[in-house]
Amino acid sequence: MMRRIGTFPIVVIVLVAVYAAAKWGIPAFSRQVTGLPFPLPVPGTLMLFYMTLAVIALFLMVTFSEEGLTDFLRPIRKLLSGGYGQIARGLVLLAVPAIAAWQVYELTVPRAQVPASLRIQHPSSNFPVSSEGLHNPFDEPPEDEINVFIEQARANEVIFDPQVQDDIDAWADEWDPDHILEFLAAAPVKEFLTQLENDEVSHDIAEAAYREKILFEGRALYAMNCRACHGDSVAGDGPMADGFKLRPINFTDNGTIETIVVGYTFWRVENGGPGLPTEATPWDSAMPEWKLSLTEEQRWKIIQAEYDLAEKTPRIPEGHE
Ligand code: HEC
Repeated sequence: MMRRIGTFPIVVIVLVAVYAAAKWGIPAFSRQVTGLPFPLPVPGTLMLFYMTLAVIALFLMVTFSEEGLTDFLRPIRKLLSGGYGQIARGLVLLAVPAIAAWQVYELTVPRAQVPASLRIQHPSSNFPVSSEGLHNPFDEPPEDEINVFIEQARANEVIFDPQVQDDIDAWADEWDPDHILEFLAAAPVKEFLTQLENDEVSHDIAEAAYREKILFEGRALYAMNCRACHGDSVAGDGPMADGFKLRPINFTDNGTIETIVVGYTFWRVENGGPGLPTEATPWDSAMPEWKLSLTEEQRWKIIQAEYDLAEKTPRIPEGHE
């Protein structure tokens, strides 16, 4: 005849099985279902739920009949009356309070914790004061730069930023336009082209057209270099944005590029996350160090486009009108 398993071992086996299923079984199963490279752990409160329900069910089972209870208590009585030997009894009587004491100690012992600290988004400790008065050279393009642009446009030889030139050349090859600037649909550019044809160029229209060209280059450079993180809408929601604990900045938010002087924005773009002082921790900024891969001129063009796309203006430095 098969030996019957007692009620006590069954209770222990069921408790261990329920615990193991909740602790490791469900996370492993969740991984199969979600296909994610990590398991979804069962929250502590839910663990408590499962275990409490298991204990209640076992309690009902054990106390259902007088025999059940007697069967359950039999090994305990046997142990306490020395049926398993003096040594076994002594060990259990020591182990139970020892485990309880260890649990209480674990719960109450104070732990060293890193104090919570707020991140300073605009640390200024290593921002060079000399940068504060910087302004974007494309805000007010100098006279001779505009004259060069007019000459280039007259000869239909407008030169673009090297990062966008290839695409514009490809476009020109395909469409064979009368003038290279035709791809810019903005009104000032159209007017400028008409004036060029009639050979009566007004300086103001030329300047407006030149600004459109700079903005175009800035937007294109933004799309190529910054969009992945800061997003099409410059709202910090690019396709890569969710991957960073410290989210790429939302430029349309009033607390970002509008609250800082443009020299500061320039410095931030130039030095990226690696250039930030410790006040800007505890999370590392993924913002790249753009001085390594973009020229100063390219960075100013992008900043011009960045403020334009966000419909913001930089803060005016102290003591400047
Ligand atoms: C790899 C992702 C990534 C790319 C690409 C990226 N950024 Fe950032 N950027 C960030 C993150 C993350 C932050 C926010 C953390 C911080 O404060 O440094 C940030 C912050 C900034 C800030 C600071 C704004 C403020 O209010 O202090 C500016 C300005 C900025 N980025 C401009 C740019 C420009 C311009 C480009 C393209 C040339 C660019 N970023 C490309 C990730 C990126």
